[in-house]
Amino acid sequence: MSDPYADLASQDEDLQNRIADAMESRCQDPAQVAMRQAYLADLELPKNASAIELGSGTGHVTKDLIAIAGAATALGVEPSPVMVARANAHFAGQPNLSFMVGDARHTKLPSGEYDLVLMHTLLCHVPGPETVLTEAYRLLKPGGVLAICDGDYSTATARIADYDPLDELVRFMINQNVTNLWIMRQITGLLSENGFSLGARKGHGYVAEGEAAYFLTVIDRGADRMVEEGTLQPATAEALKTEARDRVSRNTFFGYMSYVSQIAYKT
Ligand SMILES: C[S@@+](CC[C@H](N)C(=O)[O-])C[C@H]1O[C@@H](n2cnc3c(N)ncnc32)[C@H](O)[C@@H]1O
Repeated sequence: MSDPYADLASQDEDLQNRIADAMESRCQDPAQVAMRQAYLADLELPKNASAIELGSGTGHVTKDLIAIAGAATALGVEPSPVMVARANAHFAGQPNLSFMVGDARHTKLPSGEYDLVLMHTLLCHVPGPETVLTEAYRLLKPGGVLAICDGDYSTATARIADYDPLDELVRFMINQNVTNLWIMRQITGLLSENGFSLGARKGHGYVAEGEAAYFLTVIDRGADRMVEEGTLQPATAEALKTEARDRVSRNTFFGYMSYVSQIAYKT
């Protein structure tokens, strides 16, 4: 199966809703909020700044453009109508926050209108990410800020000992859900080639805490995909999911992945 996030709108609605649930769980995880705070809070934006998030999913990160980065308005662009409907329902009544169905590679929005463009865990899903960078450059005002953050997904792990079977579920889930594992190792070169000047770069270690709600969605999606592929019997997948939950209840669960953020400017 190819990365379903690369073409979410064409996936069946059950899968889109399941992905939306996982996205909302990740967005609200306090460690994930802290990570977004760490790279969005220091941006220097002009008064009444207009911001846009490309690949806005359920819209919680788009809201950060106002709540954390201090923009006056924020627009989320997202190809999946299911995600856009969720975002509109959740953030109804916030007139400075809006969402539209669209493609980050050609948004059809006007050129040179935005002070800030954000891509939070978008680029790893887009074949040909340079097309999105070209579009971001077009959308930004001169001197405008581009903020990119994505997983360095080869670091994802649930391993607590040698030959830990839960780790295979994490690796399989990443293998099935990410188009480019290495995007944040390639991003400075891509940005330079596309005319941006480089700003702050930060690494963010994400460790699942407490109930590990988001990381359990990673385990479950890995197990379910292995069943679909015929690699695991359903009963084995259920046993592995139970093992993960037992670890959470015994405080022995470990889930980790690192993220990298990169700020850049339209020169
Ligand atoms: C992992 S989700 C991240 C959503 C949101 N940024 C967040 O962090 O909660 C990636 C999103 O990018 C969207 N996406 C994938 N390809 C896209 C494209 N070409 N243009 C715009 N969005 C795209 C997917 O539909 C999905 O909602």
